[in-house]
Amino acid sequence: MLKFPENFLWGAATAAHQVEGNNTNSDWWTKEHASGTPIVEPSLDAADSFHRYPEDMRLLADAGLTAYRFSLEWARIEPERGRVSQAMLDHYRRMIDTALDHGLDPVITLLHFTVPQWMHEAGFWHNPESPELFARYTESVLPILQTGVRTVCTINEPNIAAMLAGAEDESSLAADGGLPAPDPVVAERLLEAHRRSREILSTVPGIRSGWTVATQDFQSSGEQGADEALRDYGYVRDDWYLEASRGDDFVGVQAYTRTRIGPNGPLPLAAGTETTLTGWEYYPDAAAHGIRAAWELSGGIPILVTENGIATADDGRRIDYTRDSLRAIHGAIEDGIDVRGYLHWSALDNYEWASGYAPTFGLIAVDRKTFARTPKPSLHWLGSVAARNALDVG
Ligand code: BGC
Repeated sequence: MLKFPENFLWGAATAAHQVEGNNTNSDWWTKEHASGTPIVEPSLDAADSFHRYPEDMRLLADAGLTAYRFSLEWARIEPERGRVSQAMLDHYRRMIDTALDHGLDPVITLLHFTVPQWMHEAGFWHNPESPELFARYTESVLPILQTGVRTVCTINEPNIAAMLAGAEDESSLAADGGLPAPDPVVAERLLEAHRRSREILSTVPGIRSGWTVATQDFQSSGEQGADEALRDYGYVRDDWYLEASRGDDFVGVQAYTRTRIGPNGPLPLAAGTETTLTGWEYYPDAAAHGIRAAWELSGGIPILVTENGIATADDGRRIDYTRDSLRAIHGAIEDGIDVRGYLHWSALDNYEWASGYAPTFGLIAVDRKTFARTPKPSLHWLGSVAARNALDVG
C-alpha cells in the first residue's frame, strides 16, 4: 500500500464547454459551425451538464472522491461586453453549493480555453486590453467565490492557449507532428491576465490561486544535437510557464503523454508503440515527470495534478494507466515534492475539442442521445483509492 499525504485531494475534472452543452455565445461555438472548419463535429448539447451537474457530482461523491474541478463559462457570465448575467452567476454558485453539499471540494477554473465571441472579435489575446478584460471578468465572479472555495485556477493551459493563438487552425492541436510555436505576445498577455486575476482573488481570504500548465514531457532522443533542440523546443512551450508560476500559491500539472525530441524537433512514434484514442503514446510516467519539472522550475511551490488521464474504450487500460501514474506520483511525493492532490481527466466522456466525441476520457460514460450516465469500473477503482488514501500495488 502506498499511502498518500493527509488531506490529499482526490477528484475528477471537466471544463464547461466540453460538458455543459449549447455554449452558443463562445468563440468555440462559432468556430465549430464555421464552414470548412477542421473541427470534426460541433459540441451541441455536449453532456448536458449545464442541467445535469447535480447527478455528475453525486456520482463522483458516491464513488468516494473528494474534489471536483469545473470551470465557469465567461461567455455565459458576460454575454455582452460589460454586461454581467446575475442569473448565470447564481447558476455557478449553485454548482459550488452542490459540490459542497456532496462533500466535494470545488476546484474552480476561471478560463478553460473558451472566451465570449465578443472578446474573440475584439482581438482575443492579441488585444492589448485582454488582461484588463480578464481582470474585470475575475472581479465579476468574485461575489460567488466568497465562501467554500479554496482553490481557483485562473487560466487553463496558457501554453496551449498561446499555441492555439499562434496556430492557423485548431486542428494543429490534434496533429502528432508537434505543436505550433506559441505566440510570445499572447504568452505575455496571458501572464499579465493571470497576475492581475491572482491579485484580485487574493482579496478573498482562504482562496489559493494558480494557473494550470500542460506539462508535455519533452525528452531528448540522445542523438547529436537533440539536447539543444529540446531546450529550444521545450522552453517556450512548457518551461517558461512553469518558471512564471514562481510565487503563486500552487501550480497545476496536466499531463497525458511524452514527446521525444530529435535534432530536428519532435519525432514520430516508433512502430508498435501503444497509442490511445487521441493517437498519443500510452505513457503513465508523464504526470510524475511533469510534477518534477514543475517543482524544479517553479522554485518549489505546491503542486496539484489538475488533469491526468487517457482516451480509451478499454476501461481496464484506464485503470492500468491511472495506477501506474499514481505509483510514479507517489515516488515524487516520497522524494519530498509537495503534491496536494490528483484530479483525473475526465469525470465524463465529453467533447474533445477538434477531435469531437470519439476520444473517451471519462470515468463515467454518457449516452449521446439520452444523456444517461453510466459509471465505469475506473470510477469505482479511483474512488476506492480515494477512500483508503492509498494505492494498492500488491
Ligand atoms: C485540456 C482539456 C482536454 C485534455 C485532453 C487538456 O489539454 O485542458 O480540455 O480535453 O487536455 O486533450
